[in-house]
Amino acid sequence: MMNNYEKAKEILKKYHQEKLLYFYDELNENEKEILIKQILSLNFEKIISLYQNSYILKKYEEYTGEITPIEHYEKQLLTEEEKEKYEKIGEKAISKNQVAVVTMAGGQGSRLGFKGPKGTYELKMDGRSISLYEILCNDLKRVNEKYGITLNWYIMTSSENHMATKKYLQEHSFFGYPKSNIKFFIQENLPLIKVDGSLFLQEPYLIKEASNGNGDVFKSLQRYGFLDEMKKNKIKYISFGGIDNILLKNVDPLFIGMMANKKKEIASKTIFKKDPLEKVAVYCKKNGRPAVLDYEDITAELSVKKFKDGKYCYRDANMVSHLMTLDAVKKAARIDLPYHRAYKKNAFVNEEGMKEVPDGPNTFKFENFIFDSFYHFKDMLLLRVNEDEEFAPIKSFNGPYTPETAIEKYKKLNYWFLSQNMVT
Ligand code: UTP
Repeated sequence: MMNNYEKAKEILKKYHQEKLLYFYDELNENEKEILIKQILSLNFEKIISLYQNSYILKKYEEYTGEITPIEHYEKQLLTEEEKEKYEKIGEKAISKNQVAVVTMAGGQGSRLGFKGPKGTYELKMDGRSISLYEILCNDLKRVNEKYGITLNWYIMTSSENHMATKKYLQEHSFFGYPKSNIKFFIQENLPLIKVDGSLFLQEPYLIKEASNGNGDVFKSLQRYGFLDEMKKNKIKYISFGGIDNILLKNVDPLFIGMMANKKKEIASKTIFKKDPLEKVAVYCKKNGRPAVLDYEDITAELSVKKFKDGKYCYRDANMVSHLMTLDAVKKAARIDLPYHRAYKKNAFVNEEGMKEVPDGPNTFKFENFIFDSFYHFKDMLLLRVNEDEEFAPIKSFNGPYTPETAIEKYKKLNYWFLSQNMVT
């Protein structure tokens, strides 16, 4: 009978990944066991077939179907009367604690290249440091205070950043947020793969794996039993947001009320894409259903397409701010979403056994995107909001979304004052 080492060798041979055992003879017994166990548990078939079939390699027409524009509302065009009406509906739901907040913080933050979890990154403002998590906690605490509730807050981490995230929040006493209302859940992983199709080592005894995209949020919530828990807690609406937008309104009465009033199951906030050729994901309809075209998928021709009145057709950019009913989330958890191929920078162990950090992207990461679930619904609400008021993400140290640009917007709105004066 084959022992585990032999089984692992056999698997690697089948998928041409023998190099993963390059340092095996130099490992101690514990490390050997870790590596062999990992090889036996990985789904090589899945990752190799994703690599070979990654649809992004094909022309967009082959997989996108018929792309047409999608309708949107603009917050600034709503009348005072409308706003009041929606806010009232939303406030009622919030006051009854029918809204749960999900923060998707399982990303690698590879563009920022900060060592810890992105949420622990500290912004320096007027001689004080404040982390993305502290800002988020403050936002949720303000809602709690205003409505006399304690929001149920779910944080999605990854196996890469879970321990560090939890430790960080524990060390800071969760910035005063009631601990029993915070639930962590770890999303699934997939191995990363180099451009040449080889899996690689992050340590001589460990194959590099990373989170499989924010679209895993539905299945992971389900796996942890949190959707059942929400049902028990009479949650009606779930707000999904990223970790890096310091102006994100996690619980917005207007948005919640508008979705409820318009009887939609799903809704997203969008921002106006200023430069039609900017590399951002935009909302559209695909075969008549709501969808988002990732920036890898949208052609230059579609990007500049205009309506008869001269306005561009595809200018509603994704800002990772979504609202769904609990039933819609349950439905989404049953869907196997497609994988997108992202090109990311990841360190690896080279043949000398040294850690090598490449200058630029060197690996493919296959990811599910939360917005691909929208295609499975008949329609959705899109609310275009003002970027200066609601979108200040920290993506990298260069380009439009840096710590500096975020701080500038944050200060302009006087939120810095609010953050400093929060009672924790
Ligand atoms: P981004 O696509 O901007 O990724 O994620 P990122 O990890 O922050 O940064 P890069 O691309 O590696 O530089 C948008 C949101 O989705 C979350 C991120 O944490 C962020 O809040 N996300 C992303 C997950 O929760 N899981 C993932 O697997 C990927």
